[in-house]
Amino acid sequence: MVDMDKLTSLCKRRGFVYPSSEIYGGMNGSWDYGPMGVELKRNVKEQWWRNMVQNRQNVVGLDSAIIMHPEVWKTSGHVESFHDPMVDCKECKKRYRADHLDEMICPECGGELTEPKQFNLMFKTHVGAVEDSASVAYLRPETAQGIFVQYVNVLNDSRQKIPFGIAQIGKAFRNEVNPRNYIFRSREFEQMELEFFCHPSEADEWYEFWKKERREWYTYIGIRDDHLRVREHTEDELAHYANACVDIEYNFPFGWNELEGVANRQDFDLSQHQKFSGKKLEYFDDQTKESYIPYVIEPSAGVDRTVLVTLCDAYEEQDDPKRTVMHFSPRTAPIEVGVFPLMKKPVLADKAIEIEKVLRPHFRTFYDQVGSIGRRYRRQDECGTPCCLTVDYETIEKDDCVTLRDRDTLSQNRVPVDNIVSEVRKFLDSLCDKRE
Ligand code: GAP
Repeated sequence: MVDMDKLTSLCKRRGFVYPSSEIYGGMNGSWDYGPMGVELKRNVKEQWWRNMVQNRQNVVGLDSAIIMHPEVWKTSGHVESFHDPMVDCKECKKRYRADHLDEMICPECGGELTEPKQFNLMFKTHVGAVEDSASVAYLRPETAQGIFVQYVNVLNDSRQKIPFGIAQIGKAFRNEVNPRNYIFRSREFEQMELEFFCHPSEADEWYEFWKKERREWYTYIGIRDDHLRVREHTEDELAHYANACVDIEYNFPFGWNELEGVANRQDFDLSQHQKFSGKKLEYFDDQTKESYIPYVIEPSAGVDRTVLVTLCDAYEEQDDPKRTVMHFSPRTAPIEVGVFPLMKKPVLADKAIEIEKVLRPHFRTFYDQVGSIGRRYRRQDECGTPCCLTVDYETIEKDDCVTLRDRDTLSQNRVPVDNIVSEVRKFLDSLCDKRE
């Protein structure tokens, strides 16, 4: 099992994740992604977008505002019901989520706890110059509502017919009582959500379809399938809008936990918005002449949780040789290929720089000439770079080949420079195939 302290220390050392505002002592529940982390996160989002939007004819994208009309959140039920039960310790004053405690004694000091109070998770702000009740607005706690309120515009403009979906990636905010487990539960995070609109009689079928699709996507981006499971929600766990929901869970170092939810939201949101906005949100099927409010199947994934899963699943410490290695899939690896001269000699460096330039339009590359070659390899192992190419004297004097070092097997093969783009492509493709 991965040790979270060691993983977070690697993430800091190699520029994946930093505590937010660290020079001021950090900010609980906020994290920053460094140069490696931002690449990893972008790759996760791009893989999702390609799979969910660009590879499907019946899904289109949207990018809606974070601050929406406050009525949206009344209508959606979030003002009324988006609460966590919260208790305080009367002795040490620590605050907990009541539903996360095994018993009603303070886990810190054993003190007596207060009765649970409902705590709304939405961040409130004021829009405009006057701070009064009329100017209250919220930071969105899910991206989904932006989709529901634009559903008719998108339907009219995109030439889609039901069944079809609208996808969105974006920030969401929740004033979590206890942000914890690193980037697993934070107050500011990103979601990748699809709202898939279908005829009510087909909702069960689409629900099954999306459960399967979504689990398969995680293995496609390199997550081991035996570290995933799908867990059906019990009746009392269901959100106010859903009649069925599963969590796709991952076996994190801190136990099995939710990575993504797939829910049947029924016609809850569109019916509510139709009722309170007074705008018609029914769908008219010109074949059957039927008017109805579509049902919605929603696969909703956390970007940051997917990044955390990618990090946990990739991490390995090895003894012989002693190294820490991140086995990212080439589909998510921040750097795909490192290029080095064996030593910092101009004749080797010039050639390596030339090779890196040829590769750069095709791959995420990195050039490094500082320090011993062993140290440079170890650094790339920790960044999870699947292959490194090294230019040596033989390259210049003899064969015009470079050494391709395989991160996972440590094997080293000579590959021709004049064919370098297709050699690297072949290597990365074979690594993806091995993992599928
Ligand atoms: N629109 C449905 C919805 O928001 P959710 O289960 O509350 O459902 C969906 O959230 C996903 O968003 C979760 O599976 C998780 O990956 C991510 N998520 C939710 N709260 C989070 C938090 N505080 N920090 C990081 N990710 C979070």
